[in-house]
Amino acid sequence: MHRDLRISVTDRCNFRCTYCMPEEGMPWVPREEILSFEEIERLARLAVERFGFDGIRLTGGEPTVRAHLPVLVERLARLDADLSMTTNGATLRSSAADLRAAGLRRVNISLDSLQRDRFQELTRRDELDHVLEGIDAALEVGFDPVKINVVCMEGVNDDEIVDFADFGRERGVEVRFIEFMPLDGGHTWERAAVVPGERIVAIIDAVHPLLPVARNHEPAALWAYADGRGRVGVIPSVTEPFCATCDRVRLTAEGRLRACLFSLEETDLRSLLRGGADDDAVAAAMVSCVAGKWAGHGIGTVTFVQPPRTMSQIGG
Ligand code: 5AD
Ligand code: SF4
Repeated sequence: MHRDLRISVTDRCNFRCTYCMPEEGMPWVPREEILSFEEIERLARLAVERFGFDGIRLTGGEPTVRAHLPVLVERLARLDADLSMTTNGATLRSSAADLRAAGLRRVNISLDSLQRDRFQELTRRDELDHVLEGIDAALEVGFDPVKINVVCMEGVNDDEIVDFADFGRERGVEVRFIEFMPLDGGHTWERAAVVPGERIVAIIDAVHPLLPVARNHEPAALWAYADGRGRVGVIPSVTEPFCATCDRVRLTAEGRLRACLFSLEETDLRSLLRGGADDDAVAAAMVSCVAGKWAGHGIGTVTFVQPPRTMSQIGG
């Protein structure tokens, strides 16, 4: 069985996406409260060696703003797990080669608009060109695959669905449209802003006919272009929750383990580590956190409560 550990290496970000952070940023976690590379490595090793985690994804905030990230990558790459990263791509043109050399195998790059003005509105940064260069750099240094994550929002960027499909076909990257989830900083999420994955697929299929790809453990529903020019996916987190098969556990930058994006509870592993706990005690805390994994996130039900953290504080 596949198991995926997502490690946030920093809560900081060089972007200020409107759905994630206020313009002035968030109150950053003080440096000493952020897990050290040694602490991250120890937890990752336990996850891989004791619990068979076979995927590790580095997230943020924006992971590339963490100083000396390649040093951490080199250590984690020695573990028997597929190592990947989710990034906004803005600094990849300068960091891709080092990360690749350190042992990172693949990257997912977040990109919500291909239009300069809209990109700037969404991220509060005029960095579209840098991100596009970052995507090229990722391909050049040999990350494989390079995937593009697009959060699709009604009335915001849903008119770019075909443009993104064309972009993926032209550049040889797999574009994955993610349904907008209630994790936004402003708590402005509403169901009407979600573009259902099914509609996204229909819009693309009308222009570039699609064939379904058999689903594996991934939350993405994948489609192949009938003409053979690659694949495209949708992650229907809201309309078709994949909670029952979700195999992800998240570690926040300050060392709290979360069984779900929407968890209201976290397990503080940092205080165990810093209190001198042995591996058995840390492993036991990991087990009890994951044992409490919910049956489903319940978005849209009366009991759903949006967690106080935004994506930048959880990691994607
Ligand atoms: N809904 C869906 N995806 C989101 N992301 C950030 N906030 C949300 C949200 N509210 C995405 C980012 C990135 C990944 C880490 O999560 O755009 O692709
Ligand atoms: Fe940064 Fe990602 Fe949040 Fe945008 S969504 S502000 S890139 S952490």
